Amino acid sequence: MLKKQRIMSLKKHLYCLYLVVFAALSWAGCTSPETTAMPTLKDAYAGKFRIGTAMNTDQITGTDAASVAVIKEHFNSIVAENCMKSEILQPREGKFDFTLSDQFVEFGTANQQFIVGHTLVWHSQTPSWFFVGEDGRDVSREELIARMKHHITTVVGRYKGKVHAWDVVNEAFEDDGSYRKTKFFTIIGKEYIPLAFEFARTADPNAELYYNDYSMYHEGKRKAVIRLIEEMKSAGLRIDAVGMHGHYTLAYPSLNSFAQSIQQLGAAGVQVMVTELDISVIPSPYEMQGAEISTRFSYTPEKDPYTEGIPDSIAKLQTDRYKDFFKVCLQHQDVVSRITVWGVNDLQSWRNDWPIKGRTDYPLLFDRKNQPKPVMEELVRLASQYTVNPG
Ligand code: G3I
Repeated sequence: MLKKQRIMSLKKHLYCLYLVVFAALSWAGCTSPETTAMPTLKDAYAGKFRIGTAMNTDQITGTDAASVAVIKEHFNSIVAENCMKSEILQPREGKFDFTLSDQFVEFGTANQQFIVGHTLVWHSQTPSWFFVGEDGRDVSREELIARMKHHITTVVGRYKGKVHAWDVVNEAFEDDGSYRKTKFFTIIGKEYIPLAFEFARTADPNAELYYNDYSMYHEGKRKAVIRLIEEMKSAGLRIDAVGMHGHYTLAYPSLNSFAQSIQQLGAAGVQVMVTELDISVIPSPYEMQGAEISTRFSYTPEKDPYTEGIPDSIAKLQTDRYKDFFKVCLQHQDVVSRITVWGVNDLQSWRNDWPIKGRTDYPLLFDRKNQPKPVMEELVRLASQYTVNPG
């Protein structure tokens, strides 16, 4: 009996010691993201809107275990950064490769996340065979429609009931609102967009269907997208949401134009999402905004000022920018249904390589070692200041 009491007392002492050490470590910021007392981002925003991230290959395969832990802890929605693009899924005509996309979908299913498929129709990362006939010339309109239909039907059909939503068409408009002169447009005409949506709807009538683009704060592009929504709705076609990419900087876009985009798109009768949020802190080498991936500049050390880290003043500016964008979304919970960041940590971000290859940028919510930046705590606190919108 005495021995049992001694063991109990020892256990109690050990538990107290554990609590003291844990509190000290937490206070010093030394605990891993999984053990901190801070509510997770997804819990903080539960009932308000979903919090998502893009996953790269190392995360999907589990090679990068540290980021995988962060994804499970903080995000209730995932999107594939690259592995569901057509050049990966169908590199040769009729030869589909679902190796990575299957793993991606299994991950989201196992972790009860809202899975977004990205992207069915995009001019970039579409394999070149898609547009070319045996004679080496552009295929006919009928043939391209048939190829698009086969691709969409096969991909959406495979993940029917598992992938909850699709970025059906990506970046179809120029900033001035004119149609981007992609092969889809020049061969099929503007009908390729409603056709793609219809093929996706037929393949999985329950999946949500989105139009996704950058620079929605440009009036011309925004108006063109609103016109598209109106045309599709009046034709009885399904379009559930518009995704605004969100590849931003400390300077653009203005909060007013961001809020205006949400209001006007929402008023057109769709949900609005920020689908690829990242905020670059490196001065932009040019005046152009957006995310046009074909735009490239050469590297010089002056254009890469923060190789050893960012000054506190810049980190603070970025924190404020993140808070401002989240705040606007909280104020528009009636139409905003998701914010997805384009990656987990600064090391993996595409912005290190665009528009100049090899720079050191800091655009995301976690640092290069997967530690949460101070902005995380601020975003959690911000969410608590807003009640859940009953609508
Ligand atoms: O996988 C190959 C690898 O085998 C090869 O050795 C290496 C050499 O450069 O390239 C690797 O592929 C790269 C791929 O990302 C995977 O890392 C491509 O070069 C690179 O171009 C590609 O970039 C992706 C880009 O889309 C391509 O268009 C970015 O990761 C991805 O973040 C970016 O995402 C897009 C969205 O889909 C649509 N909206 C804009 C956004 C940013 O451009």
